[in-house]
Amino acid sequence: MYCVQEIAPDIFWVGGSDRRLELFENMFPLPNGVAYNSYLIMDEKTALVDTVDRSISQLYLENIAHVLGDRELDYLIVNHMEPDHCANIEEIARRYPNVRLVGNKTTFQFMEQFYELDMTSNYLEVKDGDELSLGRTTFRFYTAPMVHWPEVMVTYEISRGILFSADAFGSFGAFSGNLFVDELDDIDINEARRYYTNIVGRYGSQVQALFKKLAGLEINMICSLHGHIWRSEKIPFILDLYNKWSRYEPEKKGVVLVYASMYGNTENVIQALANKLAQRGIRDMHMYDVSKTHASYIISDLWKYSHMVLASPTYNMHLYFVMDALLKDISVLGLKNRKVSIIGNHTWASAAMKSMKEQLEAMNNMKLVGEPMDVRSAIKSDRETDLDKLADAIYISVMESK
Ligand code: FEO
Repeated sequence: MYCVQEIAPDIFWVGGSDRRLELFENMFPLPNGVAYNSYLIMDEKTALVDTVDRSISQLYLENIAHVLGDRELDYLIVNHMEPDHCANIEEIARRYPNVRLVGNKTTFQFMEQFYELDMTSNYLEVKDGDELSLGRTTFRFYTAPMVHWPEVMVTYEISRGILFSADAFGSFGAFSGNLFVDELDDIDINEARRYYTNIVGRYGSQVQALFKKLAGLEINMICSLHGHIWRSEKIPFILDLYNKWSRYEPEKKGVVLVYASMYGNTENVIQALANKLAQRGIRDMHMYDVSKTHASYIISDLWKYSHMVLASPTYNMHLYFVMDALLKDISVLGLKNRKVSIIGNHTWASAAMKSMKEQLEAMNNMKLVGEPMDVRSAIKSDRETDLDKLADAIYISVMESK
């Protein structure tokens, strides 16, 4: 049976949720599923804003047919051509052959790369700032390249102040009936941050460019392609966070301790360090074993907090591979402006400490705090002074940070 909600006069949410998918993009765990949003506007003309992933196509097409009734679909606005949103375009074009597909030049280039069906006669190409009226409703299109693909646009509905924001302001997590953030007891901001940092995190400067384009617009509602709809006092809350995240500024002072450990000896070093930091008064520390916790969760916390400690053994004359993969991930995502401390461990040949140091130095504004420590096999009491010095340096740095 159809499952739709009217989110504003004449604007219907026609999307859906998937709780069966294990990994978003076949990479990121989805313990609470994921939502794919699409919106249908019923004015003098009708318009659909984006489609959904093919996993929920059946319900989606039923939703559209229910809301349209005996009316035609006049426009399909394509803000984003990634398959989790574009998977139903071809089917929509078959069912509603007169539909105008609204996109930019790159949108149509990608459409032709993904699809066999020739839809060129349906194209309505728009450029940055162009407007489209449905009657009472007027859309203005803003290109938002690399938020999160090159063709991305956001669509602003002028009369109601609604921003259809593509992936921006999205979150992991399926719906439990309520569509608006302010209808929830608690916002799971950790899942919004995990989504942003891992999916869009590399493109902070492009998010900032979009902010500049949207400056001055009255925004009463933000409808992302994933997750809940933002409105009322929740809008400044999420805009403020997006501003911090895209500037690579930490949200909070705090220390994230990330370790790799084969037999517990490297873990012992970082546990002892965390203990010393706690006794000096550091609060809100978070510790992760890279072999146990998916990197997307660790990266979300590294984005959130001001300081990190990385500890890893040497493996096959190299940095332990799981820690190496985490550092590569951080580098590709472009995280910067953090304070970092390093602990290596080795038994007969040292490579981990040097590799971590070199990789961090190649990133942007990652400042070393304290002397990198290299442990031989297991920490003994003769290294306690070194560990105390490192704890002192981290404590002072955290206290001095904003
Ligand atoms: Fe949700 Fe970039 O696709």
